[in-house]
Amino acid sequence: MKIGVPKEVYAGENRVALIPDAVRDLEKVGASILVQSGAGVASGHSDQDYQSAGATIVNSREEVFGQADIIVAVRLAGASPESCDSDPALLNADKTVFAMMEPLFLAEQMKPLAESGATVFAMELIPRITRAQSMDVLSSMASIAGYKAVLMAADQLPRMFPMMMTAAGTIKPARVLVVGAGVAGLQAIATAKRLGAIVSAYDVRPAVKEQVESLGGKFVELEIDTEGAEDAGGYAREQTEDQIRQQQELMAEVVAESNAVITTAAIPGRKSPVIVTADMVKRMAPGSVIIDLAAERGGNCELTKLGEVVDADGVTILGPDNLATTVAVHASQMYSKNMVTLLKHLIDEGKLKIDMDDEITAGTLVGKGGEVLHPMVRDQLGLEPAAQPAADEAADDGDAADEAAPEGDS
Ligand code: NAI
Repeated sequence: MKIGVPKEVYAGENRVALIPDAVRDLEKVGASILVQSGAGVASGHSDQDYQSAGATIVNSREEVFGQADIIVAVRLAGASPESCDSDPALLNADKTVFAMMEPLFLAEQMKPLAESGATVFAMELIPRITRAQSMDVLSSMASIAGYKAVLMAADQLPRMFPMMMTAAGTIKPARVLVVGAGVAGLQAIATAKRLGAIVSAYDVRPAVKEQVESLGGKFVELEIDTEGAEDAGGYAREQTEDQIRQQQELMAEVVAESNAVITTAAIPGRKSPVIVTADMVKRMAPGSVIIDLAAERGGNCELTKLGEVVDADGVTILGPDNLATTVAVHASQMYSKNMVTLLKHLIDEGKLKIDMDDEITAGTLVGKGGEVLHPMVRDQLGLEPAAQPAADEAADDGDAADEAAPEGDS
């Protein structure tokens, strides 16, 4: 079984899907690893490091896709606009791919990948269950983004975060508000606390109050109806228009008092809710900062522009894109660990097993046999639910490969 690692092609993407330590780990379960030359350089790993760990270096993306049975990447499909049109032609029913793909937000891009016949796993869909925590790339990357957002806020703010008692007077601590206390938000709270700020946080899910307080943050309680705010998977549900209006009115005061606001609020597969309106920004003191981690999904602040620095009458608004890549060494280490844990879970006696009775497999598998199978992705595409594929049809099944391969695929 050969596992291939292509060099990422997304502009500014410095992460790599497997680091050299993973090569040693995966060899133990019977895999040999191919790495495209230069794939690890931006995250601190030379071709020589991979070779020393036992990997073979190949020169091109085409060689990785052509020679490997399993391709593992940081980004494919919608998450890799530079290659989403050309990658499907490199795939066929003998191949299996694992990567982040934007399967819900850019579901259309899942079709060509699935139609190539390849077995397609989207890393963003790893179920949020205890057993799968060590495979959960969304959590790993969100944690990094939460940390980095606070550093960006501290860097932009014309104030210091901690209280300081100096001979030149007492410096008041900065007031930081974190909106959305999921994985990124909780890491932002912890990081801002470590830097000495006074931190408060708000989330539509009342269940997070305890977590915010355990990190030393103050939970902002808004008197709005939060019934049904959380779905069975622990995710926030989209709010009604009335709830959104109530929230905006009540948040205005809290936002106005904050020196830095870090927003992370997301609804899976949907545009992010607008929580900080232009009017609310107007009420903030000049010199205040907003770091909008939801920028890639439209933003939690009405004035956010993805990848840009907006100056709104002295309030600086940053909508960073792909923050995890700015910490490429640790982001690659964590992503690689998540990937290895998932692969080891799926590899049995040197072969990849597709067991649809396994919650992790069924939750993450997007396409197989030429079809999009995942119910949430099908729903986004306006398709009826698919028939459940037979369990344990390994991707290396020759007959299935012949049936599934669309014409013209190599
Ligand atoms: P996310 O990235 O989907 O959203 C971030 C936060 O924004 C969430 O806490 C959400 O409640 C909040 N939010 C959404 N709309 C909002 C609004 N209008 N106003 C204020 N806040 C709003 O969330 P993330 O970080 O992916 O976590 C989602 C859930 O999954 C959480 O319950 C988390 O504890 C759980 N989880 C479970 C894991 C496991 O058991 N393996 C691993 C990671 C997360």
